[in-house]
Amino acid sequence: MRTVHSLKELRAILRGYRQQEKTIGLVPTMGNLHEGHISLVRKAAEAADIVVTSIFVNPLQFGANEDLDTYPRTLLEDQDKLRAAGNTLVFAPSAEEIYPDGLARHTRIIVPEVSEGHCGACRPGHFEGVATVVAVLFNMIQPDCAVFGEKDFQQLAVIRKMAKDLLIPVEVIGAPTIREDDGLAKSSRNSYLSEEERAIAPVIYRVLKATSAEIAGGREDFEVLAQEAENSLRDAGLRVDYFNIANSQTLKPAVPEDREVTLLAAAFLGTTRLIDNISVSR
Ligand code: PAJ
Repeated sequence: MRTVHSLKELRAILRGYRQQEKTIGLVPTMGNLHEGHISLVRKAAEAADIVVTSIFVNPLQFGANEDLDTYPRTLLEDQDKLRAAGNTLVFAPSAEEIYPDGLARHTRIIVPEVSEGHCGACRPGHFEGVATVVAVLFNMIQPDCAVFGEKDFQQLAVIRKMAKDLLIPVEVIGAPTIREDDGLAKSSRNSYLSEEERAIAPVIYRVLKATSAEIAGGREDFEVLAQEAENSLRDAGLRVDYFNIANSQTLKPAVPEDREVTLLAAAFLGTTRLIDNISVSR
């Protein structure tokens, strides 16, 4: 498994694979890889001959008071995990490689509507940063397919819409959320939790599951349900950013006519912001 840092090296290697008519799958990440990321690599390896995993902590998607500087950077450990999972190539560019004219001068991509509620409302500019970096990675690598986790449900919707609107010829594949035994969704940010906070964190998934069971059982007073869920999280000691019940396609507030709804939650435990979601057919 090779690791390259420059676009020039990357293109030279990919040219070779294309000449051999190999298909290319991309897994974009910010590193500090866990079983969630590795499951995407395995899925990409099923869908394509060659798997490229990118590792880039994208400054454009972090807010001023967020954790850009403290975000864990663990390239050596990441390489070991990727090698074991059958990854072919690691692309770990510098910020200069992705944004040669600097962040402020770089063209940005705005994806309306799906990026506006939920995390988009709490983290202004976040999805603009995500859509922009993913578009750059798509153009650098020109993958046949790219795999993203349902853990970041709104991000997946934003990327699907961006690829469709910009006619980027890539198949966007979603992959299920990988969890700890107690239900907590795996996340690089879980390592920020104190022992006490870690013990509380699984309540997010418990409340998502309990609320989705109510919906599966026929309840459709979505606003009341969301408020009850928010109260449960608050009672457990979390500071809730949002608990929303949305149409799974549009991510607009769910209405009783919707057949597929997604429950999306974001909450702080201390200074750590955790997100999770669950979808339910009705
Ligand atoms: P990052 O948080 O590193 O996540 C990389 C990919 O792993 C995303 O598609 C995310 O949804 C997926 N992922 C994270 N935790 C997961 C879990 N527990 N189960 C399954 N998949 C999981 O998301 C980003 O990076 C960035 O925004 C990025 C898309 C790379 C753009 O910078």
